[in-house]
Amino acid sequence: MKLLLVVLVALLGCAAIPTAFGAYCNGKPNPDAQPNTLPITTSAPVLVRSITNAKLFIAGQGDDQFNILHVWGSPYEMGYAHGSILKEEASEFVLAVWAYLVGQADSAINGTAHNLRPWMVDLIANFGLDAALDLTFDATNPYTGSYFLDEMHGLADATGLDYKMIRRVHMIGELTKGGCSMYGAWGKATASTGKLFQMRALDWDVDGPFKDYPQITVYHPSNSDNGHAFANIGWTGWLGSITGFSSVQTAISEIGATYSDASFGSDSRFGVPFTFLLRDILQFDQTIDDALNRITNAHRTCSLILGVGDGKLNEFRSVQYSYSVANIFDDQNMQPYNETWHPRIENIVYYGMDWLCPNYDIVLARQLTKHYGNITAEVTINDILPIVQTGDLHIAVYDLTEQLVHVAVAKRSTGTGAPLAYNRAFTRLSMTALFQEPAPTAAEHL
Ligand SMILES: *[C@@H]1O[C@H](CO)[C@@H](O)[C@H](O)[C@H]1NC(C)=O
Ligand SMILES: *[C@@H]1O[C@H](CO)[C@@H](O)[C@H](O)[C@H]1NC(C)=O
Ligand SMILES: *[C@@H]1O[C@H](CO)[C@@H](O)[C@H](O)[C@H]1NC(C)=O
Repeated sequence: MKLLLVVLVALLGCAAIPTAFGAYCNGKPNPDAQPNTLPITTSAPVLVRSITNAKLFIAGQGDDQFNILHVWGSPYEMGYAHGSILKEEASEFVLAVWAYLVGQADSAINGTAHNLRPWMVDLIANFGLDAALDLTFDATNPYTGSYFLDEMHGLADATGLDYKMIRRVHMIGELTKGGCSMYGAWGKATASTGKLFQMRALDWDVDGPFKDYPQITVYHPSNSDNGHAFANIGWTGWLGSITGFSSVQTAISEIGATYSDASFGSDSRFGVPFTFLLRDILQFDQTIDDALNRITNAHRTCSLILGVGDGKLNEFRSVQYSYSVANIFDDQNMQPYNETWHPRIENIVYYGMDWLCPNYDIVLARQLTKHYGNITAEVTINDILPIVQTGDLHIAVYDLTEQLVHVAVAKRSTGTGAPLAYNRAFTRLSMTALFQEPAPTAAEHL
């Protein structure tokens, strides 16, 4: 493996320049898109079962239900509890993501449509998928907290899955492309309530396995060395973070920058996987300043736009993120700046789908301006997300002030109704209630 790593360095150097350099993103929202008038589900999650160190709840109504899994203990114990209470689903998910990656690799090699980043296609062509993923793991391992690996070992021991398979599957964020959207809005933009709102819309592959395993995993670390409680909005068996909210009132958003420009500099394969960095922010950082320091000082890898909000300080910032740069923006200096397609709006920072994405930015800016002064979670769900048509796989609309999160997920393979999350029913969750959930007592799971 050491030799392969040397080959990897030789092949890719430390820099892989994005292919769509300076180009604009494709597609645009349908001008006839309609508001989402479905009522928001507000009923509390319902307990399904509990075991040592885990309690499983179901949230949402009908076909829009998703798991809320609470885990307690050390990283290993939390992974073990996750893999025990949801043994079948966690195994299915990991194997399905593996099969998905195999299919993506086949498509990339035979030249049909796929989601992989170009450097990954080169690696797969040269070494095969297993070795390509192991090389990626090796390139990121020195920058990865040991608690991730402990948690993966716990998950492997409980499910019987191969630990290496779990590790490989968790490299997926680094390998695939996804468009997404975000905003942070405060002050004059939300004057009707005075609150800080943040949106995270995930536009990823709704043909992949993700839509069948929606889950919020609420971590309750037993020891403060392992951080504070936080909610990871993702999937069963998935330990990285792309969407989430912490018990210290912070939240994250993330967009893959595929249509980037020269201001990103270069990317690297050697550093912390961004899904682990985002989780570290949720798990360990007390304030937005801690999070921005973490991002600034990290060994970063691929080009992204990140968003971090802090309901204690009523602040939101975006970050232009790559190996070379970590540029922090507020409403006054937001980049890219173009008066026509990405105008600056006081007390709002926003991105539609990508870095250079006029067709989405224009519609997102228009809807934010339409509701200026009264941007709320309800308005976002009703008349921003479905009109911009962003958030196909899952969406979180965070009310950082009241510590509420509104979640929608894509239709499952077996579900009914609209296929994409932005047209489906949202569920409102009280994060303070989730973080106060007591650990199961022995009597509860006898
Ligand atoms: C390419 O690979 C995909 C994914 O495995 C497969 O569905 C498709 O049939 C393949 N196409 C060709 C031309 O081999
Ligand atoms: C803004 O974008 C428009 C349309 O793409 C372009 O014609 C114009 O030159 C841009 N303005 C600046 C200042 O870059
Ligand atoms: C603000 O939005 C809410 C829905 O969230 C709506 O009921 C209310 O009428 C709006 N207020 C104003 C001043 O537009």
